[in-house]
Amino acid sequence: MRLSPDTIDEIRNRADIEDIVSDYVSLKRKGKDMWGCCPFHNEKTPSFHIRPDQGFYKCFGCGKGGDAVTFVMELEGLEYVAAMRHLAQRYGIEIEEEELTSEQEEQQSERESLYILLNFAKEYFKDLIWKQEEGMKYGLSYFRERGFSDETIKNFDLGYSLDQWDAFIKAAKKKGFNQDFISKAGLQVEKDGKVYDRFRGRVIFPIHNTMGKVIAFTARTLKALTKQPKYVNSPETEVFHKSKVLYGLFQAKQAIRQEDNCYLVEGQTDVISMHQAGVPNVVASSGTALSEEQIKLISRFTKNVTVLFDGDEAGIKASLRGIDMILEGDLNVKAIVFPDGEDPDSYARNVGSTEFKKFLLHGAKDFINFKVELYARESANDPLKKAESIKEIVNSISKIPDPVKRTVYIKECSKLLDIGESVLITELNKLILQSNRKKLRRDKPAFLPEEVLQDPESDTSIKLNLEEIIQLQEKESIRLLLNYADQMLEGTGFDLQLADYFFREVDDVVFTHPLYKVVIEEFKSSIEKGTLPGSKYFLHHPNDGIRELTIDLISRKYEISENWEKKYRIFIKEELEVLKDASFTNILRLKFRIVQKMIQDNMAEMKVPGNSELQEKFMKRHQHLKNIEMGIAESLGNVTV
Ligand code: UTP
Ligand code: MN
Repeated sequence: MRLSPDTIDEIRNRADIEDIVSDYVSLKRKGKDMWGCCPFHNEKTPSFHIRPDQGFYKCFGCGKGGDAVTFVMELEGLEYVAAMRHLAQRYGIEIEEEELTSEQEEQQSERESLYILLNFAKEYFKDLIWKQEEGMKYGLSYFRERGFSDETIKNFDLGYSLDQWDAFIKAAKKKGFNQDFISKAGLQVEKDGKVYDRFRGRVIFPIHNTMGKVIAFTARTLKALTKQPKYVNSPETEVFHKSKVLYGLFQAKQAIRQEDNCYLVEGQTDVISMHQAGVPNVVASSGTALSEEQIKLISRFTKNVTVLFDGDEAGIKASLRGIDMILEGDLNVKAIVFPDGEDPDSYARNVGSTEFKKFLLHGAKDFINFKVELYARESANDPLKKAESIKEIVNSISKIPDPVKRTVYIKECSKLLDIGESVLITELNKLILQSNRKKLRRDKPAFLPEEVLQDPESDTSIKLNLEEIIQLQEKESIRLLLNYADQMLEGTGFDLQLADYFFREVDDVVFTHPLYKVVIEEFKSSIEKGTLPGSKYFLHHPNDGIRELTIDLISRKYEISENWEKKYRIFIKEELEVLKDASFTNILRLKFRIVQKMIQDNMAEMKVPGNSELQEKFMKRHQHLKNIEMGIAESLGNVTV
């Protein structure tokens, strides 16, 4: 399964961004770039462009960017290896697979065998529903009674399992599958030394992965009154990890991208009914709590999620936490609540397609507003509850990574709850700081004194700002390195390449932002080996975040102008001319902010009453840091920092 490095190189070399993108987007040339309407979001005027010479694309509308491989991954919803295979096929490149160790080989062939068996099982269950008496009588008629059309039943590969102990096992064995695999595929249960079919006398919903391979099943009982569980699901197997799968995604992915929205429901019947009602951009979490992986999966196709709630308040509250996770993934969340006692499936059937679509269109509320209303209702006359509600809501807002979005929500929330903005901001900052601390503690930069991590209260808003400013300065360092690492800085004092100068000056600084930190580390270790990684290297970096960052920072130049082509050259020229100053000030500013932060942390520590010996230590440190701060400020001259 592993592609050889040669194959990877060849694909990378041959995969021409212009070629690939042209398959999906009609492009027009303007200077070095090609422009077109972005395939990742809806737009009428082109803000999507590619740089064929650099091999990347970038959309100024939605921010998506990457190289030929990411483009295929995003647009086709493929994993890295699958995208590489797709490209290899397109260019007729023969794929050379790397020798696998015998263990890897075994694992791989085991997975493949599981897929084959699972596919056999799917076909077996399907055949029963269409061709076999019991299957037609119970299975097919069950689905038809639920209002599923034959087309829908086929589209979702629905099936039936016979009401016998081992009908499936027998059929599979007859086909030559051995017992061990039937067990590994999760298709049997073992009890008291005997084996039985896992699914018996139930209708079957196959679960597909994003590529459309069947990896598991979920099966519903036909009996209204039974002690048996309503749904029986495949267990975790080599190929099925519940938390990484969303039911219906394979059938929905195209529509999710087109609509740029994903409806999230609870059950597979909701997914199927919505499809039939003409709303195909829907997936189900299948009754479990939403996982981080599932959210990432959705975000490969859209940044907008609309969560559909059954109309029962306790149920809604229980799932609110999961929704905070969607916010944390920087997705936009809306919510819709169905009337009491209805789920999307029953409601779609009751009101019909037209009404249902209208309901979705008009019923969607921004999630934060939805949450505010939910809590405002119950805490209207109860101050104690109100305080609790504010905490709940601000907690959700604090999960949103984008500070601008957070500010907008705080304003809105202040209005809706009739509470001063500053109260909310204080609460918000406290939460953000707490979570920043948690992150910092996990990944503590060496130059930060341990004390910083132990001060939960004092003056959080300023501290937060400094942290953010430091990261901005870090980002500027990365931008300079990515664009000009090999530029000579000639003139007084240093005749060095920018990268050498940079690392000579800031060798002891550990970057706080995890992505920037990785870039810096990789620069460092390359330089130690005597090479310089160019922006190309980072453009093809295995880490998504770093690829995006690189594209963002090397295409930033264009952003400053409308008439980008003309100004682009001017800007480059200008920046090259001032590069020496730019890198000098950047380094000073970075150090300046770090020292300020140390002063602030130290002061916070001084305020804590303690023994006089300690106080003296803090005072000394304060003086020392202040001196350094002044020194840097002088070097910076009158530059406003
Ligand atoms: P529901 O009980 O709401 O079922 O469970 P539903 O989707 O409305 O199904 P119908 O309409 O009665 O047929 C929601 C989801 O929780 C999971 C299933 O994925 C189901 O779709 N579930 C529920 C289980 O896994 N096991 C169960 O026993 C019950
Ligand atoms: Mn239902």
